[in-house]
Amino acid sequence: MIALLFLLRFIKKYWFTALLAILFLIAEIVIDLYQPRMMALIVNEGILGLSSGGVSDMNLIISTGIRMLLLVLACGVCGVLSGIFTNITGQGSTNEIRKLCFDRIMHFSFDQTDNFSTGSLITRITNDVTQVQRLIIQLIRGFTRCIMFFLGGTAALLTLDTSFGVIVACALPLILLDIIFVVWRTNPLFTVLQESLDRLNMIIQEDVAGIRVVKAFIQEPREEERFAEANRHLVDTQFNVQMLLACMRPVMNIVLNLAAVGIIYVGAVQVKAGDLAPGTVMAAITYLSQILIGMMMLAMIFQTISRGMASLRRVQAVVETESEITRVPEAADGASAKAEDGSRGTVRFENVSFAYPDTGTEILHDISFRVDHGETLAIIGATGCGKTSLVSLIPRFYDATEGRVLVDGIDVRAYDPIALREKVTVCLQKSELFSTTIRDNILLGRPDASEEEVRAAAESAQADAFILQQPDGYDTSVAERGMSLSGGQRQRIAIARALLKRGEILIFDDSTSALDLKTEAALYASLDRNYADVTRIIIAQRIASVRNADRILVLDGGTIAASGTHEELMASSPVYRDIYDSQLREEVSE
Ligand SMILES: Nc1ncnc2c1ncn2[C@@H]1O[C@H](COP(=O)(O)OP(=O)(O)OP(=O)(O)O)[C@@H](O)[C@H]1O
Ligand SMILES: [Mg+2]
Repeated sequence: MIALLFLLRFIKKYWFTALLAILFLIAEIVIDLYQPRMMALIVNEGILGLSSGGVSDMNLIISTGIRMLLLVLACGVCGVLSGIFTNITGQGSTNEIRKLCFDRIMHFSFDQTDNFSTGSLITRITNDVTQVQRLIIQLIRGFTRCIMFFLGGTAALLTLDTSFGVIVACALPLILLDIIFVVWRTNPLFTVLQESLDRLNMIIQEDVAGIRVVKAFIQEPREEERFAEANRHLVDTQFNVQMLLACMRPVMNIVLNLAAVGIIYVGAVQVKAGDLAPGTVMAAITYLSQILIGMMMLAMIFQTISRGMASLRRVQAVVETESEITRVPEAADGASAKAEDGSRGTVRFENVSFAYPDTGTEILHDISFRVDHGETLAIIGATGCGKTSLVSLIPRFYDATEGRVLVDGIDVRAYDPIALREKVTVCLQKSELFSTTIRDNILLGRPDASEEEVRAAAESAQADAFILQQPDGYDTSVAERGMSLSGGQRQRIAIARALLKRGEILIFDDSTSALDLKTEAALYASLDRNYADVTRIIIAQRIASVRNADRILVLDGGTIAASGTHEELMASSPVYRDIYDSQLREEVSE
């Protein structure tokens, strides 16, 4: 019910076309229901001449025939118009739903995306939305058609002769029982069906995106088996649904035929007694089949509706999930406000602990530090020690579980998320590129930037030279997810994009890992020259990448083991010296 109210919100806007669709459909059915009556007239009066003493009337046959023909034409026109208006309503409202779903997904927190899973989100926005569209069409056309056929057919039948009503009354409960049984059994299967589709989509997505890994490790058979397994599950569920439907149809047919036999029998008795004309019995049989076909359609409609409702609930779950990243104004109360440091681009962690919402294991413990305007802070530490997790708290990809993260003296939760991300630029550990030109990939940082600014950012990122060597320079198209470029080239385009944005705080998450030391040094030198007023937080694995930073944090098992300049840490931190020694050994042994 709640789901239907939700759907109504979107159909409401198209109420006029929905109304037209229903009106034209009613007109179509009324004409349809009128035809058997004219047929009866042709038989009873035209051919048998019942009221003119057995003299057939050719003129009546021709004129009624022409009227029937015209009515069929009108019926067709109404049918086409009703179809057009139904589609406008269905397409229009699902288009809105699809857009809203996409908008929601774009505003989900990372945690919310993880919870739904990417595969499921894709199924919901594609297949589920299509099912909802079918639902709308069935609600408009199917329901109107069934109700009209049933009510109109029964009324028409009863006006012919009330004794036919007894036959309908006997057939109806049997058909209803059949429908209820099938709907009851298939209903839960539709949610299972959509979930199997989720899983299948997830596997396809992973395998297609990771095809290189699959091939490199000769895992095609294993992946094919994984796919086959998920596909089997989907097919099995679909098979069960179809089996139930297949059982329903013969039962319906038997009831339909028995009812027709009943009408012929009752009709024959009455014709013999002279109470009824043969043409009227023919019309009665047509009405009976219209009523029962209406009921059978109802059964089919219930299938679409059950499936559509399962999909509608899944779509509704997406649309009604409010983004977790909302402003928490009260978080600002405790903050010591901007005036405290007065400058732009400062970051402060106050006793921050953090656990990912889905696992609950604490990754960061009681972290406190600060970075001032224009300073370069480096973070170094073993793989998996929590560096990425730590910086992801600054643009609020996740929220700290304890303590506070302050940007310019204000708790990040008190910011409008957009304003916060205007200030904080993150160059992610994995450089994601889109399948468009190199220029557009860089422009993603700031779409209104000029050509000179794009070039300048690329030059600072040490990317300009290699971009110009590409076949079409900045206009060269990047293959899906940047696959046509080397790892280091992808990283430099991602860096150029981050630099172009020119936020007040720039975070590099291991962003130079694929660059050789010389290119990396040139990049940092150009950052010092051109981005001196930007606060920089640089995560790196190599000491060489961080030794010139103003301060280095050594992260160890989610806590800060030491902090200071390279020289200070060499003198005071055994963990840092260990990293230094191991890298030195590597260099010597190379
Ligand atoms: N989305 C996530 N959900 C749950 N746990 C996560 C998630 N991302 C990372 N973790 C866990 O958090 C811990 C820290 O991961 P993090 O990515 O912060 O490490 P890192 O220091 O950046 O490592 P690396 O140097 O390899 O990039 C790891 O144990 C990891 O398993
Ligand atoms: Mg990391």
